[in-house]
Amino acid sequence: MPEATFGVIGGGMMGEALIARLLNQKIFVPEAVIVSDPQTARREVLHHTYGVQTTDSNQAVMDGAKTVLLAIKPQVLTEVAKNLKTPARETPPLLLSILAGTTLTRLQEAFPGWAVVRAMPNTPATVGVGVTALAVGESVSEGQRSQARQIFTSVGTVVEVPESQMDAVTALSGSGPGYLALVVEALADGGVAVGLPRAVALELAIATVRGTGELLHQGDLHPAVLKDRVTSPGGTTIAGIAALEAGGLRSALMAAVRAAYSRSKELGQS
Ligand SMILES: NC(=O)c1ccc[n+]([C@@H]2O[C@H](COP(=O)([O-])OP(=O)(O)OC[C@H]3O[C@@H](n4cnc5c(N)ncnc54)[C@H](OP(=O)(O)O)[C@@H]3O)[C@@H](O)[C@H]2O)c1
Repeated sequence: MPEATFGVIGGGMMGEALIARLLNQKIFVPEAVIVSDPQTARREVLHHTYGVQTTDSNQAVMDGAKTVLLAIKPQVLTEVAKNLKTPARETPPLLLSILAGTTLTRLQEAFPGWAVVRAMPNTPATVGVGVTALAVGESVSEGQRSQARQIFTSVGTVVEVPESQMDAVTALSGSGPGYLALVVEALADGGVAVGLPRAVALELAIATVRGTGELLHQGDLHPAVLKDRVTSPGGTTIAGIAALEAGGLRSALMAAVRAAYSRSKELGQS
């Protein structure tokens, strides 16, 4: 087996999304990637689709790779860590964890001697347009920090935050796709209410949310500037916005983020 430089423990949805993009962008070559997963069928899919090495041994990943992505569910971390020996290395290898709610302290205990980065990607990462927040552990070198940024940039935008802000990140960008799915569905319902066929209404709603995000991003526009630009005096958009304000859209979205933040803190303590 050639030496692997990048290992993945847990070849599920997120693990695969990262592998696919990292290979596509030639950040790693397939022979340099090793993935462990308990399911034979899953390993076969990953090997045949991407040409990566696969194994049922998490230890093989730990022993070989210089950088390891931990992409298992948080509930199995204790079990996984219990069965791993952390190899002694001259320079501490890099562990990137995407486990929701799992702190740097907990990861450091589970992987003694490793440099640890905690990452919170969101679901659009699976199609390359996610946003990932990184909280970087104390022993992470500058080179490892930029490697972590490069790896998560393969699936979208990257921001760095202090670990104390991870619950807030979870409440906004982590849960945000769920909030926006509701917005899209409601817009489509509105379209149907005023006579559009369901499929057309849904296509319009999705394209509008997508295009507006892109316009704000590419144009580097403040949302208030865009809102002012699209509201002509006595026009249709200001009539719609008045209805949204009467319905409390802004306060509902702010309350959603606050509720998710409290829940994330609660889950972190349980
Ligand atoms: N999906 C998202 O949008 C998202 C966003 C942010 C963070 N995350 C985090 O990303 C992590 C992975 O999420 P996911 O959606 O990719 O989950 P997933 O699809 O269930 O992937 C987890 C993979 O790990 C495998 N696994 C289970 N036990 C294992 C073990 N002992 N050793 C090695 N692999 C094992 C699972 O196999 P089995 O199926 O056989 O159990 C599965 O293939 C989670 O911690 C989650 O909190 C996900």
